[in-house]
Amino acid sequence: PMRTVTTVAELRAGLAAARRAGRSIGLVPTMGALHEGHLTLVRTAAEQCEEVVVSLFVNPTQFDDAGDLAAYPRDEARDAELAAAAGASWLFAPSADVVYPPGFATRVSVSGVSEPLEGEHRGALHFDGVALVVTKLFSMVGADVAFFGQKDAQQVAVVRRVATDLDLPTRIETVPTVREPDGLAMSSRNVRLAPEDRVRALALRHGLDAVRDALLDGAGTERAVATGRSVMRDVGVEPEYLAVVDPSTFTPRDALSDHPVLVAVAARVGPVRLIDNELVGPV
Ligand code: PAJ
Repeated sequence: PMRTVTTVAELRAGLAAARRAGRSIGLVPTMGALHEGHLTLVRTAAEQCEEVVVSLFVNPTQFDDAGDLAAYPRDEARDAELAAAAGASWLFAPSADVVYPPGFATRVSVSGVSEPLEGEHRGALHFDGVALVVTKLFSMVGADVAFFGQKDAQQVAVVRRVATDLDLPTRIETVPTVREPDGLAMSSRNVRLAPEDRVRALALRHGLDAVRDALLDGAGTERAVATGRSVMRDVGVEPEYLAVVDPSTFTPRDALSDHPVLVAVAARVGPVRLIDNELVGPV
């Protein structure tokens, strides 16, 4: 049975016995509103670790917009049921004062990898907030492994950078993007798509496919991206960015070489901002 805890002391006390017994501990950080993407992370963690901690915390420091933070969907009872069914042994659901008590003054700021693409469009503070909360969660939980979704590829790259730079002992595992049957990446934002926008949302997937096919055909980045953009514009979706980058540094890449490249896209479809990406391996 899963236990829900809300303070760091309860969490540490609860995990102490497991740790003494040499049981492996996995962490799945989430902001709740759990869907099949999150639950795949939990199931993967449960396959690899004896104890699975799911954290549920809508992290205020990573939101650039107070309205967006206030509107974030919250349903802890439903999330608890889903997490337990997927194999979580602990649900860590702290309040904002537990994570950021009065007097809190520390920042974690990652340069380089956090700056382009999402960093440019959501503001540099977004990934600083992610880096801060993930560093704190790693420290609170003391997990052996933490699981992140490839859906948020730049977040994974930022978290890997922080873990390396700060010698965090938690190993990071990436889980492939979970998709709807038609290829749309699962996201808690998909429910806000009107029916006609749900169809247009496939433009991201089709744009990525077009870039991949062009790269595999030997095109350079510029031509590949132009092809992908026109596929998206044909259905009235204007990408915020469509880019070919190095998967760990997020610096631009010219074409396929001996290393895989990441094709990343973001676009607004109606009122909803969506992101997706695809790794393209060497030919
Ligand atoms: P959240 O958006 O709730 O996502 C939690 C985890 O689920 C992230 O690692 C994300 O990449 C993963 N995920 C979301 N959709 C997915 C999909 N379709 N397939 C696979 N994985 C998917 O990302 C965050 O929360 C926060 O930034 C957090 C890391 C918890 C820090 O606050």
